[in-house]
Amino acid sequence: MTFISRIVGSGSYLPEKVVTNDDLSKKVETTDEWITSRTGIKRRHIAAEGETTSDLALKAARKAMQDAGVSADEIDLIVVGTTTPDRTFPATAVTIQAKLGVIHGAAFDVQAVCSGFVYAMSVVDGFIKAGQAKTALVIGAETMSRLLDWEDRATCVLFGDGAGAVVIKAVELKNGMKNHPHGILSTHIHSDGRYEELLYTDGGPSSTGDAGHLRMEGKEVFKHAVTNLAEVVVEALEKNGLSASDIDWLVPHQANKRIIDSTAKKLKMPREKVILTIEDHANTSAASIPLALDAARRDGRIKDGDLILMEAMGGGLTWGAVLVRW
Ligand code: UT7
Repeated sequence: MTFISRIVGSGSYLPEKVVTNDDLSKKVETTDEWITSRTGIKRRHIAAEGETTSDLALKAARKAMQDAGVSADEIDLIVVGTTTPDRTFPATAVTIQAKLGVIHGAAFDVQAVCSGFVYAMSVVDGFIKAGQAKTALVIGAETMSRLLDWEDRATCVLFGDGAGAVVIKAVELKNGMKNHPHGILSTHIHSDGRYEELLYTDGGPSSTGDAGHLRMEGKEVFKHAVTNLAEVVVEALEKNGLSASDIDWLVPHQANKRIIDSTAKKLKMPREKVILTIEDHANTSAASIPLALDAARRDGRIKDGDLILMEAMGGGLTWGAVLVRW
């Protein structure tokens, strides 16, 4: 039997507290004008004290399961893309598994920073195609606020907290569907560890014993993002014999509006076909794609049969794309 991974539901959750650019300008030397013009960010949500990544993820997961009409006992795989786990171990995915009351199957985290959701989708797609999972929860969840150096204006203005989730089902690919299947058409993931020093945390369990703070050479990361994303979206289209004009929605990682504009321009995609949430969410790392996806589904933009291209780049460097027929 051949299986395809079909997205059957989505959900998302943002913490209640909203911090605007003006709020930040009272803490570090910055302005709403600088942040808006350089990044497109206006505000971000920040987790409350004691509110963890698994708390956000759980809320997003429950909404996705409700949307899909799937109960906990059907879930046999939970993969969480996160770089801000509740604990160094166990994986945040098993914490979520327990909170959901799932007592079978497997749960684990994928660490690919801002590409975490794309990587998690790629892993789950592999499990489904191999017949090893039937109903999976794929979650991108982050509390980036906990990794930030709130005195470093070059990074603290860029990130936010949140979670997004999708439920994926294994659907048997029958002969009649082969020419126009609904589901994940292909996933493409890449990494290049030579660029580790461009975006990293200056800590970790086996080096300093604490989580450290996020450090970034913004300008350099920006250049790599523009190049790598342009390449990976072409790779995804070519693999499927499709062209950019076939795409209904570009759902990009929301790191910088100028990076997103550059990818859209290379694809000659009109602005209306790009799902943008960066203004309200800032960069939520692995959560940004499922947050954007869920927003566009719930407001009716994404419809059955639409072709959706997701892409992301982050620390590692890691990058990738997922092409989906909804
Ligand atoms: O999600 C993972 C992937 N991450 C990314 O893709 C992020 C990629 N990088 C970026 O988005 C951009 O490089 C940034 C938004 C981080 C920075 O934009 P930029 O246009 O590359 O600015 P820059 O780093 O070259 O800084 C320009 C100036 C500097 O001042 P001088 O040296 O020109 O006098 C900075 O000190 O802006 C200054 N600056 C700020 N000014 C006001 C840096 N941060 C701020 C700030 N407010 N918050």
